[in-house]
Amino acid sequence: MVESDLFEPYDRLIEIEVLGRRVSVPENNRLLRCFQFLSLRTISYGDFCWNGDCTNCQFWYREPGDPAEAPERTALSCRFRVQEGLNITRLNPCVQIEGVNAPRRDAAQPADDAAPAAPEASPAAAHAYQET
Ligand code: FES
Repeated sequence: MVESDLFEPYDRLIEIEVLGRRVSVPENNRLLRCFQFLSLRTISYGDFCWNGDCTNCQFWYREPGDPAEAPERTALSCRFRVQEGLNITRLNPCVQIEGVNAPRRDAAQPADDAAPAAPEASPAAAHAYQET
């Protein structure tokens, strides 16, 4: 049994599909927590109320056994308990998952995104940047 402050206790990871990608997430958790498991930074800092009020976590899906031509269902991921084989077909644009619909963060990238970017112009411009 895995226990943490962030996730409900779980024994194993289960497979779901998110926008055509197979991913493994902790069973027994709300789907938004599973998205956080996949993409800690973007979901933790995302614009989510976590209690069913904002609808920013909305997603569209098919359950295992739904025919491909069946209309998509929709739900709020902060209220929806994940199930094995879930097929998520669309996400509210607020749900950005690294490696799925957002670029993976480069491990070599500085942790502080607010730091000013180094100028890419001439060496003189770089020198001027360093003096300020
Ligand atoms: S996070 Fe606001 S409704 Fe789900």
